[in-house]
Amino acid sequence: WGAGPLHGINTVVTAGPTYEALDPARGFTNRSSGKMGYALAAALANQGAAVTLISGPTALPAPAGVRRIAVTSARQMRDAVWACRGAMDLFVAAAAVADYRPQTVLADKLKKDADTLTVTLVRNPDILAEVAALTPRPFTVGFAAETGDVETKARAKRARKGIDLIVANPIDEAGVGFAGDDNRVILIDKDHAGAWAAAPKTEIARALVREIIKRLPRTASP
Ligand code: PMT
Repeated sequence: WGAGPLHGINTVVTAGPTYEALDPARGFTNRSSGKMGYALAAALANQGAAVTLISGPTALPAPAGVRRIAVTSARQMRDAVWACRGAMDLFVAAAAVADYRPQTVLADKLKKDADTLTVTLVRNPDILAEVAALTPRPFTVGFAAETGDVETKARAKRARKGIDLIVANPIDEAGVGFAGDDNRVILIDKDHAGAWAAAPKTEIARALVREIIKRLPRTASP
């Protein structure tokens, strides 16, 4: 790992979607491409952090200097994060984790005999909330993918999950949020909320890393 303001900071980043199997052919997932999380992993590594990127299924190559662990489901992502908990100074949760999974994963492919189909879903672990509840806990950054009044919903989410910073992004606006190269974010800590102009995810990632560096207890400027 290189030198830089984050030298010696063990960082875990989650990125991408999760995939929750229903049968051998089908499952539930979402539109996350992993671009935001991968850009953050790269920007953190560029500032010297030791980065473990825990990624759901994406088409992206691992950024240089980053250790990537590939997972599929939310529970696998949770286990991979949990395995890092002993040496985690910074946790950045950019993944779009499925909140629910099918209660039963069918061994055989589901047949389309009926006109309607009911699937029972059960809650997945909330990885971000579990990390935020650790003692001592790493500096914790979450994302909030929201529609409508993004800022109000994200403020409430930050307080509820007990995290240091939340990065809110609208997912009901064209060209930002899921999948594309650009994003528009509102950065919220316990005192302030700042709305940033839409920009490439790579640029937003670099700016977010600067904000993290300012706030990290071990790297705060004297
Ligand atoms: O991957 P891209 O195509 O680049 O898109 C980027 C993005 C829109 C996916 C990303 O910027 C983003 O907003 N990620 C979080 C998406 C999300 O799941 O938001 P949420 O509001 O449902 O979750 C809130 C936070 O809790 C997130 O930090 C999420 O990682 C975390 N979480 C959620 C559920 C869960 N079971 N475990 C979690 O850790």
